[in-house]
Amino acid sequence: MENLQQLENDLLQQISAAADIKSLEDVRVSALGKKGLITEKMKSLGTLPLEEKISAGKILNVLKTNVEKAIENKKMGLEKQELDKKLATERVDVTLPVRPETQGRLHPVSKIYEEVAAIFGQMGFDVAEGPDIEDQFHNFNALNMPANHPARQMQDTFYIANPDSPDFDDSFVVRTHTSGIQIRTMESKKPPIRIIAPGRTYRSDFDATHTPMFHQVEGLVIDKTTSMAHLKGCLYDFVKAFFEVDNIKVRYRPSYFPFTEPSAEMDIGCHKGKDELKIGEGDDWLEILGCGMVHPKVLLAGGIDPDEYQGFAFGMGIDRLAMLKYGIPDLRTFFESDLRWLKHYGFVPLDTSSMTGGLSNNGGLAR
Ligand code: DAH
Repeated sequence: MENLQQLENDLLQQISAAADIKSLEDVRVSALGKKGLITEKMKSLGTLPLEEKISAGKILNVLKTNVEKAIENKKMGLEKQELDKKLATERVDVTLPVRPETQGRLHPVSKIYEEVAAIFGQMGFDVAEGPDIEDQFHNFNALNMPANHPARQMQDTFYIANPDSPDFDDSFVVRTHTSGIQIRTMESKKPPIRIIAPGRTYRSDFDATHTPMFHQVEGLVIDKTTSMAHLKGCLYDFVKAFFEVDNIKVRYRPSYFPFTEPSAEMDIGCHKGKDELKIGEGDDWLEILGCGMVHPKVLLAGGIDPDEYQGFAFGMGIDRLAMLKYGIPDLRTFFESDLRWLKHYGFVPLDTSSMTGGLSNNGGLAR
């Protein structure tokens, strides 16, 4: 077998001349591929007389190893070169400070949404949604508020005519509360259920603490043995996490909601000073949410057997929570789209709320 030295020299020369991975691969295939020069030579060994086969075989093996090694080394060199090139062009200076003036602010309502979802999310709640324009079944009837029920007068409802029916009972409403999502959730999910449902709500009302559009978050838990004790534990943990105070007094006052029995309102302890409100300490009380055990009729309306399942529900005003937590005095300003207001009360958008990373990230306050 002649010219093996020549072949090796040629190949090594081609390898060293390869300018990139692709041309190196071409050389490899031409030498070691199925029909490569070295492969062909290996195949032709079989035709040689024994003596020659042994000596040529040895030489060929050495040649093959040399070529393989050369390819491997060259490849490493080329890869490093390519990486260096990439690093040079894609260089990011990680020591650069974050731009001091992040544009845009997160509205306090969005911030509270995030905080509430972070707290209940950690307790295993899902977030459920429902439509803003609701039918009377989901907004009222299924929640144990049939037509002419006095409780309907508790809410100043905006009705929307139904184009397909002149009958008032068929007219739609812009939802007066998020409680209808309880029913929608029961219709679409089997217990155990554990959801919160944040959303916009609408009532005909307008003063410093009421706007025609506002925000609520609803909560619903249904399982076989869910009790009032669970409700109390769950809401206590919530207010403690939300207001970021370790010690907080709470009390429950009996109340009335058509969709819960018994019903209660939860107050938290606070100190109401002349110009300040301190949550958690003091002898004053602040009403914070409505709650209760889901009325059996509501379970039935949602297609759930009240003899097998029971649960609790709660509802609270998001805007009110924002006013309390961040000291915003007038609700109407929430919806005036005044950029100066947003700059003052808004939040830096990249500071997300989480139970581990901190809820309100006071360092991230735009103020
Ligand atoms: N839907 C009530 C409202 O808008 C709030 C509420 C009270 C919701 C008690 C509940 C509840 O789920 O149990 O005033």
